[in-house]
Amino acid sequence: MILEQITTGGCLSYLIGCNETRSAALIDPEISQIGHYLALAARDGLRIRYVIDTHTHADHFSATHQLAQQLAVPVVMHRASPAPFVDMRIGDGEMVMLGRLRVQVLHTPGHTRDSICLWVEHSLFTGDTLLIGATGRTDLPSGDPEALYDSLFQRVLRLDADLNVFPAHDYQGQKSSTIGKELATNPRLQKRERADFVEMMRNLNLSMPTHVTEALRTNMSGGKSVAQLLAEAAEKVPFMALAELKARVEAADNDLIVLDVRERDAYEGGHIPGARLLPRGQLELRVNQELPDPTRRILTCCELGHVSTLAASTLHEMGFLYTVALDGGMKAWREAGYPVNSGREP
Ligand SMILES: [Fe+2]
Repeated sequence: MILEQITTGGCLSYLIGCNETRSAALIDPEISQIGHYLALAARDGLRIRYVIDTHTHADHFSATHQLAQQLAVPVVMHRASPAPFVDMRIGDGEMVMLGRLRVQVLHTPGHTRDSICLWVEHSLFTGDTLLIGATGRTDLPSGDPEALYDSLFQRVLRLDADLNVFPAHDYQGQKSSTIGKELATNPRLQKRERADFVEMMRNLNLSMPTHVTEALRTNMSGGKSVAQLLAEAAEKVPFMALAELKARVEAADNDLIVLDVRERDAYEGGHIPGARLLPRGQLELRVNQELPDPTRRILTCCELGHVSTLAASTLHEMGFLYTVALDGGMKAWREAGYPVNSGREP
């Protein structure tokens, strides 16, 4: 088996492939690593045929939906997954054929109801069911400490002690373990009695992962994160640096329309000299009156540089092909000590 482990902060994802047929699968891919995965597959001569999530992630943004669309391959998850975009809903004891490799599914609920472990040759991809020196938490939606106890002690820990363990998370930079090592040293697995284990899991008092609301929203619906929307908008438009704009403002460059897309009070509090006001919320509806000539060069600006990127992308879509966004926003403009006008423009 070909095996690549890809680390994104504390999240671990895997590219596994069959040596003979070069068929591959991604396990728990993360959204920011899409280019990395495709580059690794190309380098190793692999064709990605499945994208698999071991469970509904609450702490990172899954790339399965986007990769499935991009590569025209199925998303594989346990049949209890709430995500509507899952193409192959798999159950306990079933397999995904990956060339000569058999990817066998163990349903191991506990961390979430839809958690699975994937057993391939001498390796077990444990998701968040079993981590190195820890277990997945059971206090997030659909978590259940009783179910995790059964999944670990009745299923996973009864497998061959030499089986390699590859988890979906590690915060200490550890790469893998074995079932035997975890049984012997994992502090949480020393609570062998059900009641003790459940009590321990109920009293971990862990803080909520960052972005939990957004991660669950996007991972359960296939929708986009804010960062994704911004990245997609940024790919469609050119940018201009603050210093370049300042030079043009000082040179009274009349070819450039500076469009401030903040609200009126922010605009009147201080804007780039000569800037026009057209709040983002009114952009589409007022664009015909405010910007009758689509061949003009337009620069959008806002407070931080995010909303102006979205506005520039919208203007491009509407046929304003010479729109650029400011790299930065009014906050950075003021901090640089660049000139500001307040009130309305004449
Ligand atoms: Fe998780």
